[in-house]
Amino acid sequence: MRVLSAMQPSGQLHLGNYFGSMKPNLDFLAQSEDSYFFIADLHALTSVQDPALLRQYREDAILGYLAAGFDPEKAVIFYQSEVPEHTELLWILSTVSPVGLLERAVSYKEKVEKGISASVGLFAYPVLQAADILLYGADKVPVGKDQKQHVEMARDIAIKFNNQFGDVLTVPEPVIGEDVAVVPGIDGQKMSKSYGNTIPLFGEEKEVKKAIMGIVTDSKEKDDPKDPETCIIYQIHRLMLGKKEALALAKEYRSGLPYGEAKKKLFQSYMEFFGPMRQRRETISLKEARHVLDEGAKKARSAAQKTMEEVRRAVGLR
Ligand code: ADP
Ligand code: TRP
Repeated sequence: MRVLSAMQPSGQLHLGNYFGSMKPNLDFLAQSEDSYFFIADLHALTSVQDPALLRQYREDAILGYLAAGFDPEKAVIFYQSEVPEHTELLWILSTVSPVGLLERAVSYKEKVEKGISASVGLFAYPVLQAADILLYGADKVPVGKDQKQHVEMARDIAIKFNNQFGDVLTVPEPVIGEDVAVVPGIDGQKMSKSYGNTIPLFGEEKEVKKAIMGIVTDSKEKDDPKDPETCIIYQIHRLMLGKKEALALAKEYRSGLPYGEAKKKLFQSYMEFFGPMRQRRETISLKEARHVLDEGAKKARSAAQKTMEEVRRAVGLR
């Protein structure tokens, strides 16, 4: 069983990314002997069009993912743009992808509403994602709920291609972590870089503290009982705790833990939970990361070239 997933390097990594995507991906990739994971920098170009920023986000992504435990011994890890077969397959697939299918993409509509320019690239985003998946014959694609539709589109496109040209592409299946929580941001909306309400994974300690101290609370007095179920501080804190610890903390809230204290405790847990990962991030050199990416791209290209040979033959380009 081949497992494949990817992340778009389009901003500073935050707790929502960690608990909603990195952690479940790590757990899932660890279960397979044959997994691919890449940094979808070509996808990021649809929204990040400042070269210095894109360079920084790519670098942050590879260092962050390696620090978080993505292991090049277990998975093929690479930059999407360093395997040119992705864009070649994108073109061929685009010739069998119905415009109507792409017009139904929810994420396209949402991004345009948010103000990202409606470029051809943004519209074709799901076709590139289909190429990413089909190039490696992936059976399972673990993703967040927001990406389910894109993987279903990859299925539709694979089926269309196979109907037209013969049974060449593996039809993939999305794997959705149903129990993956939506992590609230410091203002109570979904944590997202586009809302400016994030707690960073790797930012400076000062920056982390400032974000945590800025979590919005209700106006209960210091000693009033607090409701952990509605408190954003608790909702974030419990993600870093075991069941028993979370229950004990909830009890403290109900006995009147002041919000200021609750935030200090959260900061402490954050440091305990993410401290080792943050330290590891500091010890990984760019040279080391480059080595992982070079080796990864080599392996990925060898798999991708095999698929492309079959695809070219199937459509009549050989
Ligand atoms: P952002 O919302 O900050 O732009 P992305 O869309 O780049 O984040 O998210 C990358 C992945 O991280 C997505 O697949 C999504 O599943 C996950 N993710 C992002 N924010 C959250 C959140 N607040 N809660 C749970 N998962 C999240
Ligand atoms: N679009 C995905 C996201 O924003 C990233 C991605 C690109 C991806 N290619 C993929 C995910 C292939 C899974 C498989 O999170």
